[in-house]
Amino acid sequence: MNVMVILTSALLALFAQSRANTDSNKCISAKTCGQCIQIGPQCVWCKDPGFKPARCDHQDSLERAGCTVLGIENPRGTITIDKNKPVTKRKIDVEEKLMPDEINRIQPQKVTLHLRSGEAQQFKLTFKRAEDNLNAQPDSLSSEVILQNSPLPDGVYISFVSHCKNGVSEREENGCKCSNISIGEEVKFDLEIMAKGCPSNGTSETIKIKPLGFNEEVEIILNFICECECHKDKIPNSPACTDSNGTLECGVCRCNEGRLGRLCECSRDEVQTEDPDANCRMGYEMDICSNNGECVCGTCECKKRDNPEEKYSGTFCECDNFSCDRSNNKLCGGHGRCECHTCLCDANYMGRACDCPLDTSTCMASNKLICNGRGVCDCGVCRCTDSKFQGKTCEICPTCPGVCAEHKDCVECRAFHTGDKKDTCDRDCGYFSMKVVKRKDLPQPLDPPYITHCKEKADNDHWFFFTYALNNDGNDEVHVAEFEK
Ligand SMILES: *[C@@H]1O[C@H](CO)[C@@H](O)[C@H](O)[C@H]1NC(C)=O
Ligand SMILES: *[C@@H]1O[C@H](CO)[C@@H](O)[C@H](O)[C@H]1NC(C)=O
Ligand SMILES: *[C@@H]1O[C@H](CO)[C@@H](O)[C@H](O)[C@H]1NC(C)=O
Ligand SMILES: *[C@@H]1O[C@H](CO)[C@@H](O)[C@H](O)[C@H]1NC(C)=O
Repeated sequence: MNVMVILTSALLALFAQSRANTDSNKCISAKTCGQCIQIGPQCVWCKDPGFKPARCDHQDSLERAGCTVLGIENPRGTITIDKNKPVTKRKIDVEEKLMPDEINRIQPQKVTLHLRSGEAQQFKLTFKRAEDNLNAQPDSLSSEVILQNSPLPDGVYISFVSHCKNGVSEREENGCKCSNISIGEEVKFDLEIMAKGCPSNGTSETIKIKPLGFNEEVEIILNFICECECHKDKIPNSPACTDSNGTLECGVCRCNEGRLGRLCECSRDEVQTEDPDANCRMGYEMDICSNNGECVCGTCECKKRDNPEEKYSGTFCECDNFSCDRSNNKLCGGHGRCECHTCLCDANYMGRACDCPLDTSTCMASNKLICNGRGVCDCGVCRCTDSKFQGKTCEICPTCPGVCAEHKDCVECRAFHTGDKKDTCDRDCGYFSMKVVKRKDLPQPLDPPYITHCKEKADNDHWFFFTYALNNDGNDEVHVAEFEK
C-alpha cells in the first residue's frame, strides 16, 4: 500500500477519535444535573448514589459504566397545541354571513413548548385567505402572506419552511412567505423552534407570530427545561455528604457554605480555588488526575497498580514508568529507564526504545576506518553513504569497473606464473584465496555474495577468466579458470 494512504487514514482515524472525545467531554465537565442537560440533548445525567464515573455523559456511555435505567435523568422537550380552531370554511352554496371576528385565517392559535437546550420542536401552521370582505368579487384579488415573529429571547431560534401553491416549498428568508394566494386558498408552514441554554433563568417567555397585515396571531409560550426532575427530591444536610455539610441532589453533594469537594470533604480554608477538581486537571476539559487517580481536596492521589513494578506519578498522575517503547519485548530494550512515557537510556545506548548501541566496533573495517570511510555507523550497522558500496563495512563494490583490472596481475601470476607481477607475486599477491577450476565450474553470477566476473588477457595473448568475490567471513576469494587446450 501507498505510504500516503496509510498516513492519511491514520490521521483521519486520529481526527475522528479526538472529535468523539471532545464531543463527550462537553458533557463530562458538568457538575450538576441542570448544567448537564443544558449543554445539549446528547448529555444525560446519572443520579445513582455512589456512581463513580463522570455523571454527565452520553446515554450509552453511562449505561456501559453501570448506571441503572431508573438512574438516568434525561428530560425531553414537549409541544402542546392549546388552541386549534380550524380555519374558516365558508359554505359556498349557502349565502352564509360571517362577522369579521368569526373568521379564522390562522391555525393553531396557541402553542406551549417545553424546550430542552439544543433540541428543536416543530409544528405546522396553516394560513387561509378567507372571504373576509363579502362584498368583494371572489378571485378578483390575490395577495401575499408573510409571517412575522415578535422579538425572540436571547438564545431562541425560529425557522420557517413554506409550502405554497403548486407544491413550491422554500426555506430560510423565503420560508416565511407565500405569494399569489387567491381568496379561499390555503397554504402551510413548518415551524421549528430551538433554544440554546436557558435564556431566562428558567422562567417562561411568550412570543407571537402573525401574518403581516392581519390581526390574528399565534401565541407561543416557551418554557425552558433548566433543571432535572431529581432536583425536587434534594435532601439538605444529607449524611451522604461529609459531616452532613451538603445537600444531596441528583446523586451529588452540593456543599454548604465553606465546604468544597465531591463529597464536601474539604474546607474552603484548605483549598484555594472554588473548584478543587480544577486543580486536578492538567488542562481545560482534561480528565481528573488523567483518569489515573482521585482528586482529594485539590490534590491527585494516583491509583496503585497490581504490579508493584508499575507506578503512576506526576501532579496529575499523567506519568507512569511502564508505558514506554519496547524493543526485544523489553521495556526500553532493557537498556534504560521509563520515565513519563520516555525512555532514559543507559550511557551506551540511544533510540526511542534504547535499542541502538553507541558502541561502533561492529562498524570497524579492517583498515581501522568506520565503514571503510564510506558510511556512518547507525545503531551498530553501517549505512553506506555511497550506494555503490555494500557489505557490513561498505567494503564491497560489485559494480565498480576497476575490480578486474586491479586484481588481474596478481591472479595471473598466482595462477599461471606469468605477467607483470610474476617476480613479486609472493610479496604482493597473498591477499586473496584462490582456486583453479574448470571454466564451467566458475561461480555463477547469482551465487552469493557479490561476485565480479572478469575476462583479461594474459602475457601469452590468451584470454583468461576469473571471478572475484568477498565471502561471508570478509575474505577475498578468487576462482580462476584453467586454460583449456
Ligand atoms: C397566480 O395564480 C393564478 C391562479 O392560481 C394563476 O393563474 C396565475 O398565473 C398566478 N400568477 C403568478 C404571478 O404566479
Ligand atoms: C438570570 O439571573 C441572574 C441572577 O439571578 C440575573 O443576573 C440575570 O439578569 C437573569 N437573566 C435574565 C435573562 O433574566
Ligand atoms: C460542617 O460540619 C462541621 C462538623 O460537623 C460542623 O461543625 C459545621 O457546622 C458544618 N458546617 C455547615 C455549614 O453545616
Ligand atoms: C517504577 O517505579 C517503582 C517505584 O519507584 C519502582 O519500584 C519500579 O522498579 C519502577 N519500574 C520500572 C519498570 O522502572
